[in-house]
Amino acid sequence: MNDNNVYAFNDEEKSIRINRSDLPTPWINYLSNGRLHAFVSQAGGGMAWWKSPITYRMTHYRYQNVPMDGPGFYTYVREKDGTTWSPTFRPCETPLDDWYAEHHAGWSKFVGTKNGVTATLKLFCAMDTDALCYDLEIKNDSGEEKELDLFAYADLAQLEWTTDLFYGYYIQSQVTTFYDEDMDAVIYRYQHTPQPFVEDVPLIWMAADRKMDSWSGDREKFLGPYRWEQNPIGVEKGHCGNDTIECGHPCTAGQVSVTVKPGETERVVFTLGVAPGGLIKHKETMANIKQDLETFRSLEKIDGQFQALENWWSNHLSKFDCEIPNKDIQRQINIWSPIQTVHNGRYSRSTSWHAPGYRGFGYRDTATDMVGVAYRDPKWATDMCLYLLSQQFEDGHALHTCYPEDGPAMSRGASKHADDHLWMPMVVYAILSETGDYSLLEKDVPWLSEEDNWTTYGSATVWEHLMRGVDFTENNLGEKGFPLTFDGDWNDIILRFSRAGKGESIFCGQQYVIILRQMIEIGKAAGKPQKDLDRLQDCLSRMVKNLEDHAWDGEYWRRGYTDEGDIVGTKEAEYGKIFINPQSWSVWAGVGTEEQNNSGMDNAIKYTATDFGLRLVHPGFKTYPHDPDPFTGYNPGCAENGAVFCQANGWVIIALSKLGRAEDAWKIFGDMIPHTALNNIGLERYEAEPYAYVSNIIGPENKRHGWANVTQVTGTAAWMDLVGTQYLLGVRPGLRGLEIDPCIPADWKSYSVTREYRGRTYIISVANPDGVVKGVKSVTVNGVEIEGNIIDPATVSGGEVVVEVVMGE
Ligand code: GLC
Repeated sequence: MNDNNVYAFNDEEKSIRINRSDLPTPWINYLSNGRLHAFVSQAGGGMAWWKSPITYRMTHYRYQNVPMDGPGFYTYVREKDGTTWSPTFRPCETPLDDWYAEHHAGWSKFVGTKNGVTATLKLFCAMDTDALCYDLEIKNDSGEEKELDLFAYADLAQLEWTTDLFYGYYIQSQVTTFYDEDMDAVIYRYQHTPQPFVEDVPLIWMAADRKMDSWSGDREKFLGPYRWEQNPIGVEKGHCGNDTIECGHPCTAGQVSVTVKPGETERVVFTLGVAPGGLIKHKETMANIKQDLETFRSLEKIDGQFQALENWWSNHLSKFDCEIPNKDIQRQINIWSPIQTVHNGRYSRSTSWHAPGYRGFGYRDTATDMVGVAYRDPKWATDMCLYLLSQQFEDGHALHTCYPEDGPAMSRGASKHADDHLWMPMVVYAILSETGDYSLLEKDVPWLSEEDNWTTYGSATVWEHLMRGVDFTENNLGEKGFPLTFDGDWNDIILRFSRAGKGESIFCGQQYVIILRQMIEIGKAAGKPQKDLDRLQDCLSRMVKNLEDHAWDGEYWRRGYTDEGDIVGTKEAEYGKIFINPQSWSVWAGVGTEEQNNSGMDNAIKYTATDFGLRLVHPGFKTYPHDPDPFTGYNPGCAENGAVFCQANGWVIIALSKLGRAEDAWKIFGDMIPHTALNNIGLERYEAEPYAYVSNIIGPENKRHGWANVTQVTGTAAWMDLVGTQYLLGVRPGLRGLEIDPCIPADWKSYSVTREYRGRTYIISVANPDGVVKGVKSVTVNGVEIEGNIIDPATVSGGEVVVEVVMGE
């Protein structure tokens, strides 16, 4: 339990218990089976969508609005005397005798007690059928028989989110809810059809595991005028009204009344499901719902679905497990970072309680997420890799945002960026390191049409796609020889220096060096033509020389050039004197001398360190009315303009570990563990979840410094996941095998790691008898000492491989 008793982790169960409902912000969890998705907060607020939150948004959520965090997956317990309360505490807000919530990997639980009755709500998505279960258990410890009315509710949305926002007042004539007597289910049909996949449009249904006593499909009637979810008239009356609509606002509500004897427990499961095909094949879809209901009318089958969900997660989380002296860090590495990486892989930067689900996948964002996913689920990373490559144009650059489930008009951003395509070699390298299967390079992938950014044509192999990315960068070098920034590199607001199309990115030049080195390694291992390798080597040599000749500012690395040819990130500048990315990426790229790179990192720390990580830039650019930065308007200390941009700290840690600077690396890694950051900064200032990284933490130039801004949807999770497992604990897959290269605190005597690798389980124990921070003296595999520190998987046998590592000079 942390100091303020607000929350407690349960590492055994891989969960967190939250004891306070009115947190400064919603602390959310994602519930998903990979097709049906939802997020839910500790207070039961949340939203559900099927496949795409733009095209198939099932329920509403009030973004940028008050009261915050609603509506959600609400249940109500109504006692005989009319007292009504919710196991999620909200929306009723009736004081409870006891309350807590728990978030687990993929499901959440809410436990409220009042007047001797404990209601436990378990929310989860069934694994094989696209339905969300409101699994409600009522335990009567009151000593007297209880007659209770139980209700479940969802505020249904018009499926196409932008249409709902812009044209909802017309489209409300195209929505219907009806009650199917035979199935005892409320069903919602959305009849507006311009979205791209008409045949997919689902019916949405709600039913209970038994006969419902009343139901509603009409939000206005169920809630009542000038009421809201806190006090629906349907709940107050103890009857939902049995209303449906042929225009208006749909909802779905159900009521089941139970009598629970003292000491007994009753379980009622309401289910909110989707069944695709409702418009085109109405009859078949209705028949499918009926079939699905067979699952949700059997508690045993519901439990089976829950178990299947648990199995998916425990399999995913079992791929890597460490035991280290610091339990807060261990918990983050083993449990919460990989959980968040899965969520980001699914939702990119798009959907959370504050991200309204509009963006789809950012190309670079999803590419980097897949670098983090590859070591636990190479198949998923491969599928996404092939999808992303299909969003690459024939000239080699890539579409900036895209989403497989949406149509041509939605979430497809065609702005041109210096870096998007350059992340793909990293993804391929990560997958090949994991699988060793070079046939990936020969897979055919189409090109994206420049005409509509939607259709695809022709095809080329994965290797050709990567080579085409190199062509694009080569064809678009600026006057100083660095990649033209265009609409931005990794840093979204760096484009302010390149509006006229002439600005150049040194950082992107460093990224280019890294991926050229990776491509050369891949090309050699896969036996690619010498002419390709020569070309890559030539590009590499030129860019390294250019960086050495033109990127050094005397004490640290510069960031780039403006349209006018002025240097960005130099001591001569008034604002933005130093950016941290070029310092860390230079180390990673292996450019410059060790002295230069140490100096770069020293200066990054000197100018940008806070107690919760390094800031992206120092000093932040001023904005209006003082306007050396008339373009972005970002206040100093905010986001890319001087916040601790968490993701970029992952790269700082990679650099520090490569330089053997364990103390600095672990300080930053440790300080940024969300639980630690929250406790150091203070809950009321930090606000966000102690189990999920945020995009950025406001920097000291801003009076809100310490505020954790943009939670959950950030590349930080994948990078910290990777940094912790591969660079600090140093169990790093490569094309030649599993490299053991730890960088640990000097006072660690030992630690251990269990990791899946190419079909085997490696049980690795590391001893540090001399108290070093880096350096491996010996590696023994299944009792035999090997040469060097890379375990070649071709030389090992058996399902389990025992590895003993001794660190030392
Ligand atoms: C946001 C964007 C990401 C970008 C980063 C830095 O996280 O989603 O694409 O790289 O900001 O600007």
